[in-house]
Amino acid sequence: MTEAPLIDIRNATIWRGATRVFDNLTLSIAQHERVAILGPNGSGKTTLLKTINRELYPVVAEGAWIRILGREHWNVWDLRKQIGVVSHDLQNLYTPMTTALEVVVSGFFSSIGVHGILAERVSREQLAKARDTLRMLGIASLQRTPLQSMSTGQQRRCILGRALVHEPQTLILDEPTSGLDFAASFDYLSRIRKLSATGHNIVLVTHHLNEIPPEVERVVVLKEGAVAADGGKASVLTSGVLSSVYATDIRVAELDGYFLAYPGQAHHKT
Ligand SMILES: Nc1ncnc2c1ncn2[C@@H]1O[C@H](COP(=O)(O)OP(=O)(O)O)[C@@H](O)[C@H]1O
Ligand SMILES: [Mg+2]
Repeated sequence: MTEAPLIDIRNATIWRGATRVFDNLTLSIAQHERVAILGPNGSGKTTLLKTINRELYPVVAEGAWIRILGREHWNVWDLRKQIGVVSHDLQNLYTPMTTALEVVVSGFFSSIGVHGILAERVSREQLAKARDTLRMLGIASLQRTPLQSMSTGQQRRCILGRALVHEPQTLILDEPTSGLDFAASFDYLSRIRKLSATGHNIVLVTHHLNEIPPEVERVVVLKEGAVAADGGKASVLTSGVLSSVYATDIRVAELDGYFLAYPGQAHHKT
């Protein structure tokens, strides 16, 4: 049996409010694939990720479809059991007093915070798993610390814990290292690399080529609501492709499986 793709979008037009973000988009990402999504601000990267985990529910026209794990219709709670989401602004949705343990536990319910009725539904096993997750991320000592007393890097680790606690096969990461210093972002990236190595399906949005782990094989570049480039890393991360997409001169260097963008014209067309 062939495995259904994580996402299979055919000829979809996706609106957000009055903005048509994607027009006639066709894109497929298989399970177990590791993909980086690049593109200028406003090109639709976040919209694409929100479409995958059904935060956005686009209307699709006749003959068009958006299938997630083989299905057009999902109970979002069933879907989110299979997907872990990290976004750079997720921690801001929590009240500042929320503790690390509460943030991680909320991942079991795909919720923001665990209050009232929900708090009663937290099982002993879930609490134990959440503590294990905090330990694995090196923030066990923060379990009772409120978000407001943590560094951005610590807050982001809590959000990663929230995404990992229910052991999803797929991780969706929207600029997970934005605002982090070198130590925090490299630490974060090494955790993502380990998850790649254990066969997780990873979709990573980033603005920094050097933050694309060597394990990521495929890069999709979005521009103005369309796929501007899609293919193997070495074929997409070139001076020619990036200079054209970002409408500015960009050169690209490669070092040990990592890529780096820097300003200027390439001497020869790559
Ligand atoms: N809530 C919203 N309502 C209306 N338009 C939106 C909303 N969120 C984003 N957009 C628009 O959708 C387009 C794509 O945004 P987004 O997916 O956030 O881009 P990216 O993540 O690549 O920066 C932009 O033109 C943006 O202005
Ligand atoms: Mg975005």
